[in-house]
Amino acid sequence: MAKIPTSRVDKLLSSMGYGSRNEIARMARAGGIILDSAELRDATQRIPVTPDLPTHMEIDGKALDPVAGMVILLNKPLGMTCSHKEDGALVYDILPERWKQRKPAISTIGRLDKQTSGLLLLTDDGDLLHRVISPKRHVKKTYRAKLARPLDGTEGDLFASGHLMLERDNKPLAPAELDVVSETEALLSVTEGRYHQVRRMFAATGNHVEELHRERLGDLSLPDDMLPGQWKLLTEEETALIFQ
Ligand code: URA
Repeated sequence: MAKIPTSRVDKLLSSMGYGSRNEIARMARAGGIILDSAELRDATQRIPVTPDLPTHMEIDGKALDPVAGMVILLNKPLGMTCSHKEDGALVYDILPERWKQRKPAISTIGRLDKQTSGLLLLTDDGDLLHRVISPKRHVKKTYRAKLARPLDGTEGDLFASGHLMLERDNKPLAPAELDVVSETEALLSVTEGRYHQVRRMFAATGNHVEELHRERLGDLSLPDDMLPGQWKLLTEEETALIFQ
């Protein structure tokens, strides 16, 4: 049988952004940490670390944050940057402030441009991050693009050809799939994640993307009722949809 991993409470909570080990020791002595309905006074105590731990532990009257291994689905609003260190509004500002201190850190899985909205995943699981962005996995990313000029009807074949070479690239793009919605709107599914890829693909056809929104990643879709700036934690089953 697999051994359940354990951790010292002070180490665990400090890695989750609740404070330094000394602060957590003080919090425990003051009765602020409840484990299985009883005060946990000694923060050096070891406890099992399992995904259902949050239901058993409370910190200052609130359920413990999810332990490491979280996958967050965010409807990224326009105007926010997928970066830990740039100036201006960052996607990380949407999440609880304490989560900025977590180790391992939470990072976006790939990036969306500042002026692109829609489905963005964030995780503290490095293996998952690499599996999603690995070119070998061919995870399909579907974008809705609103265009400045009407499509001319040649774009679908060009994008599907596997021969389209973008400026400054040294390798043609893998085949991509275009579904025309209207004269000036289309869904484009790509399996790569090159810099400004969708905007540059339409620019290569003499068009210009005015609005860009990511709707799907594999079989995982952004829920219709999720407003920009809203987010939720994904279950294992939902996360698995990325690779289907
Ligand atoms: N392609 C783009 O041009 N921008 C994005 O944000 C994502 C894909």
